Amino acid sequence: MKTGSTDAKHDVERQRQQWDRVAAGWEKWWRTIEDGAQHVNDRLIDLADVAPGKRVLDIATGIGEPALSVARRVGPAGRVVATDISKQMLDIARIRASTSGLTNIAFIEADAERLDFPDHSFDAIFCRWGITSLPDHPNLLVKIERMLTPNGSFATSVWDEASRLPLTSITITVAQEVFHSAPPRPEPPPEAPQDPLEGVMARAGFTDVRTEKLTVALEFASTEAFTQYLVDVSPVVAALLSDQSPMRQAEYQHRLVQEFRRYAATDGSFRIRNVCICAVGRK
Ligand SMILES: C[S@@+](CC[C@H](N)C(=O)[O-])C[C@H]1O[C@@H](n2cnc3c(N)ncnc32)[C@H](O)[C@@H]1O
Repeated sequence: MKTGSTDAKHDVERQRQQWDRVAAGWEKWWRTIEDGAQHVNDRLIDLADVAPGKRVLDIATGIGEPALSVARRVGPAGRVVATDISKQMLDIARIRASTSGLTNIAFIEADAERLDFPDHSFDAIFCRWGITSLPDHPNLLVKIERMLTPNGSFATSVWDEASRLPLTSITITVAQEVFHSAPPRPEPPPEAPQDPLEGVMARAGFTDVRTEKLTVALEFASTEAFTQYLVDVSPVVAALLSDQSPMRQAEYQHRLVQEFRRYAATDGSFRIRNVCICAVGRK
């Protein structure tokens, strides 16, 4: 019988593999993602009131956001530590930082729930689209609050409940149809938090907690391009396809295109508009 901690280790390892698998896809689609999402970085940095010279932590940075944006804001006198569980994501983030001439970021491979920086290490902490997929995020928020300097800020964004378009369930339904099997449990859950984030943050000890909504619009030339994007960047879809033959994978993709086509614009392009909630709280 497995112990709880063996199960937890197994889950973390599975998360790492799933995200490693899609890292190249995030790089491939980065322009599309950031055309729709750079304003979220900018807003989070403003909400946390980050000034030059500050020390900042970015948790679950992926291929480097908001770490790179905040590194520009804090300037050469500031320091950013960017962490993620996926080595493949971090390798791309490092290249992006060095291509941008940023030398004030350190990248560390680490499970968010096992971060152990000393108390009062950072003036601001960020996490864009990562916090609520962590099973024990209420406890992580308590740790984050401790790692902040007095009056430091934590700013995060999560997907709004209303963003759950039928698109996610279509990816699962089509998989059941094509692969004739129950799909694996989607990890990380593409879910909004069960509890409103403000409440969880307030219970973790944050004060002055505020939230606001922002729209993230992603634009694709065609339904085929959108489907390819999903196959490339979604850890859920990547997990669904991981042990299928190339023929089955092609069939799956073809069926997705057929299903998604009804959501395309009349000129054939495909646009998704998701709403995210940005939250900020102070120590
Ligand atoms: C949706 S991506 C967001 C990446 C980036 N913050 C952005 O907004 O572009 C989620 C990220 O969380 C990371 N992640 C998942 N589980 C994690 C964990 N337990 N600890 C640290 N990072 C984790 C993944 O590797 C992935 O890079």
